[in-house]
This record gives sequence, C-alpha cells and structure tokens, in this order.
Amino acid sequence: MKGILMAGGTGSRLYPLTLVANKQLQPVYDKPMVYYPLTVLIAGGIREICVIASPDDLPRFRQLLGDGSQWGIHLEYRQQDRPEGIAQAFLIAADFIGTGPITLILGDNLFFGGDALPRALADFKSGATIFAYHVTNPECYGVVEFDAHGRAKSLEEKPDKPRSHFAIPGVYLYDQQVVDIAHALQPSERGELEITEVNLEYLRRNQLCVTRLSRGFAWLDAGSSTSLFEAAAFVQTIEKRQGIKLGCPEEAALRRGFLSLEQFEGLVQNMPSCEYREYLTGISAEIRRHESNEISMPA
Ligand code: DAU
Repeated sequence: MKGILMAGGTGSRLYPLTLVANKQLQPVYDKPMVYYPLTVLIAGGIREICVIASPDDLPRFRQLLGDGSQWGIHLEYRQQDRPEGIAQAFLIAADFIGTGPITLILGDNLFFGGDALPRALADFKSGATIFAYHVTNPECYGVVEFDAHGRAKSLEEKPDKPRSHFAIPGVYLYDQQVVDIAHALQPSERGELEITEVNLEYLRRNQLCVTRLSRGFAWLDAGSSTSLFEAAAFVQTIEKRQGIKLGCPEEAALRRGFLSLEQFEGLVQNMPSCEYREYLTGISAEIRRHESNEISMPA
C-alpha cells in the first residue's frame, strides 16, 4: 500500500495565518499539522508517500520533510497548480500510484486512538474503504447514511439537510480503479473534483466498505481558527496527561520497525536541545532498559 498526503488548498479560512505558509504547515500545539496525518500513514505501515501541495508551498514541505529517509520512508512530491479538488490527487499522482492500492489522507485531518486505521490498512484487499464518525455538525462534511443492516445507503457532500450524523473523515483506501474513476469525474458546482463522487462510484459498483469509528476514537479537522485551537488544546491535554506524544513520525517509524534503535538515536542526537528531543530520548532509554531487563532475567 502506498499513501498520498493532500496538503494543498488555499487555507483561506485561516487568513491571515496562511499568508506566508499554508494550513498544513501551521502548528498544532507542538508540531506542524502535517506531522499528524503523516504519522497515521507511518503507523499504518506505509513507507512510500506522495505529498501534494501548491507550487508556492511545495519547497517548504520539501524543507520540512525531506526525502523521508530520516524516518525510513520514501517521500515524493507533486504539485497541484490550483485547488481543484481532493480527487484531483489521483490524476496528479497517477504515475506514483501505479497499479497498486492507495491510501489518501488529508493534511488537515487529525486521528487519534484505537487501531481501526492500521487494521483497515492491513486488511484492505479491494474496492474502497472509508470511515464514518458521529459528529454534531455533519453538514460541514461528506455524510453517509446507513440502511437497517448498517450498510452505506447514501453519500452526500455537505448536504443542507444531512440524513445522518455520520461524517466521512479525510482518510480513504482505494484499489487501482480509483485512477480511472477520477479521470471520469466532472467538476462539481464549486469547481472541484469531489472525493465524495469517487466514493459514490464505488458505492454504485457495490464495492464500498464504510467502517464506523468507535466512541473512544478522536477525529478532528483543523481547517478553521476555532478547530485549529481546539485541536491544539486536545493534543496538549492528552500529551500532558499521558506523557506520550501524538503525531510524532520518529516514534511511529521506530515502533513500526522502519528505523532501528541505533538509527533512531542517531536522528535524535542531531536535534537541538528541546522538549521534543527529551521525549524521544526517553523512548530510547526505556527500550534500552527493557532490553537489559530481558537479558538479565533468568531463563
Ligand atoms: O475533513 C473531511 C472532509 O474533507 C470530508 O468529509 C469531505 O467529504 C471532503 O470534501 C473534505 O471537505 P472540505 O471541502 O472541507 O475539505 P477542504 O477543502 O478543507 O480540504 C481538505 C484538505 O485537502 C485540506 O488539507 C486541503 C486539501 N486540499 C483540498 C482541495 C480542495 C488540497 O490539497 N487540494 C484541493 O484542491
């Protein structure tokens, strides 16, 4: 499975924050926003990732994320000249996708908790898998309606009168049909190639699986000043309470086995003295302690 991280768009709702750097480069508490969806992909075992951004922002993403080798992954970059829709990703990155399955994640979507996403990635075989999450404001999102058997019945993009409270979060798994489906799309009234139209096509083909995310799962989007602030507060609350960090690609890469402990420690050594470095140093110290305990334990 490969991944696409969609980090374009104008970020106009965050003006004037986005005058110099786009939305996904803004901080969410202690890290750039793009770290969070990137970490979801890494934690899901995805090593080949294509970042799509506007011509102005692409150099900034390259500067921030590099070629990914520091995390044991491979990052490629593609340009979206204008924000003409999320589904345009499949046209822009068609050569990157090739003939295999692809996960698309939105750069302003934050996911925390549970193992629903890694499990869906590991179990994915064909068709499309998307998710549903109960929210108070479904009209702001793609909305899915279920039938009496819990199967997806209808999908609508930002309906005035939503048929359910289940919004569709910005992470989508597709098989290779997605490129042809995207090619056949027409721009919507707002002039975009809509991701909901892609999902509708899979629904028509009877190949759409919609997984409900459970109560304990947190999905936030950080597209407005208020939601950006709330996302930062959420991250701070969890990090402070649990002493763990959310959206930390180094840690995800280590735990996924993309980095050896030695590589991880080398990476940390090159960081300036800061709280982030202290956290990562604590992780390697804990692993080393475990290793020495195991060695010193009687057989
Ligand atoms: O957040 C989930 C929602 O994302 C879904 O429920 C909706 O079905 C889906 O259409 C989308 O809703 P929005 O229209 O609110 O998405 P927005 O325009 O805010 O863009 C989402 C992300 O995708 C954001 O990080 C910017 C990026 N993007 C968006 C567009 C339209 C691009 O990179 N290029 C684009 O052309």
